[in-house]
Amino acid sequence: MTVKHNRLAGTFGLALLVVAAIGVAPRVVLTAAPPAVPGNVTFSRDIAPILQRSCQNCHRPDGVAPMSLVSYAEVRPWARAIKQRTSIGPKAGVMPPWYVEKNIGIQQYKNDPSLSDLEIAMVAKWADTGAVEGNAADLPPARTFDDANTWAIGTPDLVIKTKDVVVKANTPDWWGEIESVPIGLTEDRYVAALQIREVNDVPSKDPGGRTTVGGRYVFHHMIWATDQGGGGGTNTPWPVHEVGRGADFFPPEAGRLLKKGESVVSNSIHLHSNGRDTTAHLEIGFKLLPKDYKPTLKPSQSRGLGNGLDISIRPNEANQQLHAYTVLQENTKVTSFEPHLHAPGARMCLEAIWGLNIQTLTCAGYDHNWVRGYDYADDVAPLLPKGTILHITGYMDNSPANRNVPDPRNWQGSGNRSVANMFIDLGQGVALSDEQFEQEMIKRRQSTKADVIIGCPLCNTVQRPMGTSNQQ
Ligand code: HEC
Repeated sequence: MTVKHNRLAGTFGLALLVVAAIGVAPRVVLTAAPPAVPGNVTFSRDIAPILQRSCQNCHRPDGVAPMSLVSYAEVRPWARAIKQRTSIGPKAGVMPPWYVEKNIGIQQYKNDPSLSDLEIAMVAKWADTGAVEGNAADLPPARTFDDANTWAIGTPDLVIKTKDVVVKANTPDWWGEIESVPIGLTEDRYVAALQIREVNDVPSKDPGGRTTVGGRYVFHHMIWATDQGGGGGTNTPWPVHEVGRGADFFPPEAGRLLKKGESVVSNSIHLHSNGRDTTAHLEIGFKLLPKDYKPTLKPSQSRGLGNGLDISIRPNEANQQLHAYTVLQENTKVTSFEPHLHAPGARMCLEAIWGLNIQTLTCAGYDHNWVRGYDYADDVAPLLPKGTILHITGYMDNSPANRNVPDPRNWQGSGNRSVANMFIDLGQGVALSDEQFEQEMIKRRQSTKADVIIGCPLCNTVQRPMGTSNQQ
């Protein structure tokens, strides 16, 4: 079921008004006290560790980012720009590109590279106090980047390469099929994680060409599956590839099965010229689970909650809302949230409605240059009973302030092209039997002292295990 309303800027959805009125939505309230920044901030002691952890996987020689941020000499000229880009909050332009809002919803995600408030304040103070180097003896050892950490999933056990395609500088968008690629497995194996990356001949230093959505890449998406072929085999869909999208880590109890003899198949790739002649292919990296692994839960599934069909976004207007709803047919552990919008997309929120209980699970900004998915940490992944209504709200900025929109005078509708629109949450979830659901809720009660657990509306109905009472 999908429902859509366009609302005037500045008004809120009915659900949000209800929440405001009866005040039942638990929110994580950050302490108001300003973070304590050390008296003097130096590159060597305070800033280098932040850059190593959160920036250098892209900002290093041969990384995807325009400049290296490794040595003091490289970083110093960018001090003001670094202060600016780290301090703008979870929206388009922030570095690192990670947009989860920190004042609402669940706060623990896997592989979260974002800076804490204290780190952001330290970067600002460093830039404002002369961006000094400090004592070289304070420098942490340089971070090394071998193949294992250029893949976010670690060195894959299997890498499948699609055939090279050539996309000319000025060709229109193209959608179509790829030739299938055999995976070559001789026995069934379960998959722990998956990552897809585009390998092309665009130089990393001076990519030239266009600076539109996607930058240096030509594969805008690939919707794909694995298939044993011959018509009779299975066809297993896997998470979509999109430019800028990160890796997928499947829940440890719900590995995804890759069958022997399967090939990678796709009848929906989307090629989009980057403004220069480019030869490119995709590498699909699989991290496998041990041979004797057996899943205890059903495989995770993509929600595909949303509306890609009748979107209508007015010209020259910021803060337009789209809404979509679905009712969960099974008890579900929600393992990830993945806003999928196009150029006007500025923000998306995911909310769970269970009776009178309305909880915002996640709100995240959106930048169509960086299509991100957010994997909930295992011990906070929402546990929602069947019958829960999931509600997504998309916030569209079709105004000159959104630099991803080429011409905000245009009305924006639905469709597949990069200039048309989508409004979907591609997040994943795992279906749970009643018994599994109860067990997961008991574990959740054990792992927290909170009375109200965001994302677990029925946690208070399960018996708290002996000896773990939260009575103070
Ligand atoms: C996932 C890859 C990635 C990560 C992680 C990342 N960056 Fe970037 N950064 C980029 C890319 C690509 C660009 C160019 C596109 C843009 O400006 O958005 C960029 C642009 C920038 C710019 C603007 C450069 C200019 O020309 O004005 C600054 C400053 C910057 N990054 C700083 C940082 C800092 C500081 C961090 C860590 C706190 C960081 N970045 C983390 C990829 C990344």
